[in-house]
Parts: sequence; structure tokens; C-alpha cells
Amino acid sequence: MIKRDVIIIGAGAAGLFCAAQAGQRGRSAEVLDHAKKVGRKILMSGGGRCNFTNMYAAPENYLSQNPHFCKSALSRYTQWDFIGLVNDHKIAYHEKTLGQLFCDNSASDIVEMLLAECQKGGVKVTTRCEITHVEKVAEGYVLQTSQGEYQCESLVIASGGLSLPKLGATPFAYKVAEQFGMHVLPTKAGLVPFTLPPELKASLAEISGISQTVRASCNDTSFVEDMLITHRGISGPAILQISSYWDGQPVELDLNVNEDLAEKLKTEKEAKPNVLLKNFIATCFARRFADTLVKILDLPNVPLRQLNDKQIQNIADQLHHWRIQPAGTEGYRTAEVTLGGVDTNELSSKTMEARNVKGLYFIGEAVDVTGWLGGYNFQWAWSSGWVAAQYV
Ligand code: FDA
Repeated sequence: MIKRDVIIIGAGAAGLFCAAQAGQRGRSAEVLDHAKKVGRKILMSGGGRCNFTNMYAAPENYLSQNPHFCKSALSRYTQWDFIGLVNDHKIAYHEKTLGQLFCDNSASDIVEMLLAECQKGGVKVTTRCEITHVEKVAEGYVLQTSQGEYQCESLVIASGGLSLPKLGATPFAYKVAEQFGMHVLPTKAGLVPFTLPPELKASLAEISGISQTVRASCNDTSFVEDMLITHRGISGPAILQISSYWDGQPVELDLNVNEDLAEKLKTEKEAKPNVLLKNFIATCFARRFADTLVKILDLPNVPLRQLNDKQIQNIADQLHHWRIQPAGTEGYRTAEVTLGGVDTNELSSKTMEARNVKGLYFIGEAVDVTGWLGGYNFQWAWSSGWVAAQYV
């Protein structure tokens, strides 16, 4: 039997960081992961450059049934703490947009940094390790695994959520929580592209690749960012962001956030009354996008002089408030995150320890705390991992 003070299950962002910190506190720690490689999501994140945090990360950027839960961890280990560590390791990075920090070179810089921090803490990292049984005993926990039996005082579950099963995602965390009588909230794919009803999908597929800045809104929440038309539906940051707030209702898209199209149309009508509406619309959007919009919204192909104020307002409203009904989402296959998971009511926000199960901790994406797109999810992994490491 291998004995450790702390076993961490999951060698992703949260698990590796927590293990390194616990090890550096003098605890003997080992990370177990069933995958062949550690940190696979980190490696493919941010298009291979890992958007490792956000300069403006704050509790408002997270979804959770208890929006206050994330406050403690985020304030005790902040984005500036993590940026300090990245600086210590001399990793070059840049701000891409909206406070999002990316590696200049490669996401592997972050994985190497985490492994170096683990080494500094004397942490053992074991891959290809299947955990078949978890049991609570008087001294802590006993684990049966494909690599033998382990015993530990503190057990940290950092096995993430359900997104990207092909990268090794499993419901392990939820099963352990349920095994110990803890409540798990229903899960849902988040930061995920929308699929569309067949007719709309076919019309938009013709212009896949086109990107347009939009305001995407539903459930009293809006994001102004780019929308990308794809062969399968709609994606891009604006859509990924709003998908996390989507419950099946129509999504409203303001297709031109910078101009008042009714005013612009009226001015244009005065100046160029013989211009066709579709040619006017092509001055507001990329030509192919404009032509497709005219078809989808069934806009009249008439000179501007034939439009009265009411019709102008109506056309502008259609473009500023285009309501589309997604057919669904692409699901966990492509989702960046999993919403829901281990109910925060079951955990101490200060330590991440289960309130009623001594020595059992949950961190990272397994917990019902989900960030926006833009480095917020990794920051939650670092912050929740760090606080747990202070108590394990
Ligand atoms: P994570 O999923 O990283 O790690 C869990 C680990 O547990 C994995 O190594 C897995 O193999 C292991 N595991 C699972 N089940 C197990 C079992 N039964 N037994 C043993 N081990 C098990 N966020 C961000 O802030 N910036 C970004 O740029 C991106 N980009 C991005 C791109 C893509 C394509 C995805 C899918 C996601 C992102 N994210 C992101 C989200 C981010 O990757 C995610 O929030 C964190 O990786 C979550 O970290 P965790 O450590 O909690 O889980």
C-alpha cells in the first residue's frame, strides 16, 4: 500500500496546481490520472497558446447557483498571483483582447511550469492510473487503482467536468460526490456552439467562415463580441458566451451594434433615394452576409424612396433584434466547459472541503462554478486549487 498525505485525482489545471502547492507546504502528495498525458486541455486551450487567466477576473464573470461561493478563493489567489508565477518562470505572454492573457509561444509553457512546480514540491505524478474504488477509513481514504492500493489523509477530486470526452473527461467527480451522499446539480454543456434548424442552417452554411460583431442576448444577459458562421451553425466568442446562459429560448442578435440603422436608412433615403435596399444593407455588412440576410429576413428589394418611416423602423428592428431559435448546442463533444456539477452548498468556500465529509475536497471544473470565455475558467482552477492546497 502506498501512503501519502494527499492524493489528487486529475492531472489537469486544478489538480497539478493544487498538488504543487500542497507539496511545497511540505505535504507528501501524488497526482493520479487515467490519461496517458497530463494537462491535455491546457495544451489545446487558447488555440494552443492557453489563455491562462484574465486581468479583470472577478466573481461577476462566473455562473453558479451560489454566485457568492467563488468570491473567497478568487480573492485569496488572484489573477495577479498567477501572473506573478508566470513571470517567475519567465514565460512570455501578451494580452490579446479584453484582459485575456495568452502565452506568446505555446500552452506547453504552462504545463511545464506546473510540472516544475510539482517537482519543487516533491510531488509524484502518475498517469495511466484507473481509480476503481474509493473508500473512507478511520485514517482517511483508501483507493484501489490499476497501479495498486493507495492511502491518504486528504483526497482531492480534480477530475473536471464532462466536456471533451475524447480528451478523457469522465463523470468521476460526480460519482464520488454521490457516493458520499453529496448533492450534484444537473450538468449542461457551456461555451459551446449552437446548432440551427435545417432551413436556417442551410442558408447560413453558404456563407460559413463569415464573422460579424454582434450583441447576443438571452436570459437578461448580453455579450458584444464576434459571431462566426459555420457549416454546423453559429459559433465565435459572442455565441459561446451566451450559450452558457441559454435554456432553450430564442436568442436575440443585434447585428449592427455600432450604428442606429433606422437613422442611417433615413439619412441614406434622403441622400440616395434610388439606392436599392439590398445595396444599402451591403454597406453595413460584408456583401455575402448582407445578401443572405436579405433572403432570410425576406426584406423588400425596392429603392429606399419607396420605404416609409414605419417600414424603415421595421427593417432596422429586424437587423437590431434578429431572434433566432437554436435547435440545440453541439454538446459536450465541443463544449469548453461543463455547467453545474458538485453543489457548492456541499463545500466550504474557504477550503473547498466537503462540509460533511472530512478530508474530501473538490476543485476546478467539477464544482458548480463556471467562468466566461476568456481565461476565467483556468483562473478558477488556479484559485480553487490553491485554497484547497492550504488545508489538505
Ligand atoms: P481538467 O479537465 O483540465 O482536468 C481533469 C483531469 O482529470 C484530466 O487530466 C483527466 O484526464 C482526469 N480525469 C478525468 N476523469 C478521470 C478519472 N475517472 N480517473 C482519473 N483521472 C481522471 N479555459 C480558460 O480559462 N482559457 C482557455 O483558453 C480555455 N480554452 C479551452 C479550450 C478547450 C478546447 C476546452 C475544452 C476548454 C478550454 N478552457 C479554457 C476550459 C479549461 O480547459 C477548463 O476549465 C479547465 O481545464 C478545468 O480544469 P480542471 O483541472 O478542473 O479539469
